[in-house]
Amino acid sequence: MLATLWLASLSLPLLWAQKLINCPYKNLCHYALLSGNDVILQCNHPKALWYFSSLEDKLSLINSMPNVKILPGSNLQLPNPQPSQTGLYRCLDDHKARVVEYEIDFQDTALLHVTHKDLGQTPMGNETMNLGGEVVVFTRWDPWQDCNRCEKPGERKRLGYCYVEEPQGKPMPCWLYLRERVTDSRLRPELQLQACQVPCDTSTETNQPFYVFDTRQLDKTTDHVWLSCPLASIYRPVHWEVNDTALTWQNQLSGEYISSFMDPLSGGQQLKIFQPAIYRCFVEQELIAQFNPTGPEEMLEAEGQFKGQGWSRTQPGKADSVLRCLKLMLLMLSILVVGGLLCKVGFRPARSKKRDQVLLVK
Ligand SMILES: *[C@@H]1O[C@H](CO)[C@@H](O)[C@H](O)[C@H]1NC(C)=O
Ligand SMILES: *[C@@H]1O[C@H](CO)[C@@H](O)[C@H](O)[C@H]1NC(C)=O
Repeated sequence: MLATLWLASLSLPLLWAQKLINCPYKNLCHYALLSGNDVILQCNHPKALWYFSSLEDKLSLINSMPNVKILPGSNLQLPNPQPSQTGLYRCLDDHKARVVEYEIDFQDTALLHVTHKDLGQTPMGNETMNLGGEVVVFTRWDPWQDCNRCEKPGERKRLGYCYVEEPQGKPMPCWLYLRERVTDSRLRPELQLQACQVPCDTSTETNQPFYVFDTRQLDKTTDHVWLSCPLASIYRPVHWEVNDTALTWQNQLSGEYISSFMDPLSGGQQLKIFQPAIYRCFVEQELIAQFNPTGPEEMLEAEGQFKGQGWSRTQPGKADSVLRCLKLMLLMLSILVVGGLLCKVGFRPARSKKRDQVLLVK
């Protein structure tokens, strides 16, 4: 019954967490993507087998690879893909014939070149390099993503991938072209940001239910906590608010924030916080989650909440929250939301259980 409810709630147009990559039937497609951000490669064949060869190794059945998952319908899920997972992904049918094939360059987000138009920062220019022959290295840009909020001032981003072009040749993602881990300051993916302001488009609203998290306390030993916005990704617009005030890349890149940090490597999906407050995240302009992290233990004691516990009391709107919480748990199983989050409403009766749950989630 709950599973049915959950499935019903997952029917479109609910947002999906992962970027879907596809390719026409029987074709070979090249893609440049970013490491550390989940993707799903489509095959859509009932009895398919996946093979993979990295730049160094020969083709082998993918089942032996860690951190990949074959989903029902033979789509291949790559959670947190690494640059070492750059290579050839081949989906074969039961007669060993090609259904689709992908050559994917997972470009290293650790090398991301981040610029903000409104700070007068410019992306990297074209560069002629000698890589065993004269080639042009350039950035191929995805389209700008939608503005991350509507009505109020927001920001949008676009991703740029490193490409190489030989004279009279077809452009290729850098590391598919190079076939080895060459390092050079021009060989990097890019992230560009820009301010924007758009009206709200009510016709595309999905009325996404949102999650309420009463997260782990801000730990005295580490002094910070990472919040992870469910369903967000570097490939889609994300927006954070702290106590109803917008966090912007422009302010962050000008060094104005000391109590939070949006992680550029995840496109802002992850937020590092140092202070208790109400944090909200929006994905594609819709509220997705609210986080109410607690302060250090003494603060809770001072406020008369239960002692020795790192957890604050429950929120109003329980029936709703329980449902949300169930959905969240299932989501966590299916999409591996990272971070030490705890949706505690559902586990309220046993406090010791909460601790177990934290371990599970971590
Ligand atoms: C950079 O190189 C690419 C590929 O050759 C080309 O399409 C683009 O126009 C170049 N951009 C500039 C500013 O020269
Ligand atoms: C958010 O508001 C609370 C309560 O007014 C305040 O204690 C806290 O310092 C604020 N936090 C931030 C980061 O603005």
